[in-house]
Amino acid sequence: MQKDVTLVEREAFVAVAVSFALFSSSTISEERNYSNNPYRMSIPSHSSLSVTELGVPAAQNLEAFNTLGLACQAQRVVTLTQVAQLPQISDLAAVAGGAWVLGGGSNVILPAHLAALVVHVQLKGVSLAEARPDAWVVDVAGGENWQEWVSRAVDCGWDGLENLALIPGTVGAAPVQNIGAYGVEIASRIESVQAWNVPQAKMMTLDATACGFRYRDSLFKRAAPGTWIITSVRFVLPRPWTPVIDYPDLLKQLALEKVPVAQLTARHIFDAVCAVRLAKLPDPAVLGNAGSFFKNPIIGGAQHALLREQFDGLVSYPQPDGNFKLAAGWLIEQCGWKGRQVGPVGVHARQALVLVNYGGASAVQLLALASEVVQSVQRRFGVALEIEPVVVPAA
Ligand code: EPU
Repeated sequence: MQKDVTLVEREAFVAVAVSFALFSSSTISEERNYSNNPYRMSIPSHSSLSVTELGVPAAQNLEAFNTLGLACQAQRVVTLTQVAQLPQISDLAAVAGGAWVLGGGSNVILPAHLAALVVHVQLKGVSLAEARPDAWVVDVAGGENWQEWVSRAVDCGWDGLENLALIPGTVGAAPVQNIGAYGVEIASRIESVQAWNVPQAKMMTLDATACGFRYRDSLFKRAAPGTWIITSVRFVLPRPWTPVIDYPDLLKQLALEKVPVAQLTARHIFDAVCAVRLAKLPDPAVLGNAGSFFKNPIIGGAQHALLREQFDGLVSYPQPDGNFKLAAGWLIEQCGWKGRQVGPVGVHARQALVLVNYGGASAVQLLALASEVVQSVQRRFGVALEIEPVVVPAA
């Protein structure tokens, strides 16, 4: 059993350790000037602030700060409320031997003890940067709650994020795993990301290409843990708005609401997405979970053809490059895991892609279950599942 856990952990760390390549057409610049923006509301420009002392980092249990509800004794925790604190964070991280960034804690598997400097991002602010004829351009601070921001965007008529309603976590965490749901990926709505590079002690602005977005992945996720603190995200929300309603579950829900397509608003889609998610996915406030625990695997055309012949009802989606994405939830359900509990952890009864903590579980127990699931899918279908949340190293 222990060997399996180590395997899963090692796979996760290999994924994180892949070095980040930047495309030649991408742009990374240092700094962004907000000062002449008449719409600016509250993202502080760090040059206009005096340095605010962070204080002495304090030890803290992070159990209430991760949606899986894993107990984690962190030795040094600081709260980031102003960008002026960032140089001091780089200094403290160097002393602690590294930093680890905590946003909404919705996509992380925490160890029982954490030695790195934990930076709890609480930067706030939403500001319309530009009302262009072809798009609303909005800056949102990294510590804003994702769901509150999406709801506010819909209220303001800055449509285009409604398919991503009810995803737990913060705005700063969203680009890290390139969140996606119901036909929209955040990569398609981002103009740039402003992020502090902790080891280099430097603020950078990365355009969408430089962010290296892939399916549930980005440059930020591939970098060593604690390298980047995302301070704000610049969203670009296309005008006129075009609803994205191809996803079968969403279409079904909208049909129930009987709204004529011509009268469909972003608020209708927001409400429908919330209803679908609430019906399928467990509320982390009630049952610890990190959303999808596994990525949907991508396989080649030849392997797909063989699996189609062998397994009736295989759920797959053709990709533009000729590959196929498989529904990992379906594969896991076929292996008999849906609704199964093993000690304090289990596979959710309504969505097999979600692992849950019934209370008191550790990362080791969760990863042991993940490893068993991965092995049975491998044995039955010959398909390798990868875990989606970030496994945080203890050191
Ligand atoms: N399915 C099963 N059994 C299951 C779960 C799913 O047979 O237990 C089948 C469904 O019937 C459906 C297919 O698998 O035919 C896809 O299921 P679903 O629509 O629930 O979506 P998903 O592929 O399981 C992905 C994202 C979710 C996102 C939904 C909706 C990943 C890893 N997950 O899940 O994202 O909400 O699509 O777009 O890509 C998350 O990342 O935390 C997350 C919830």
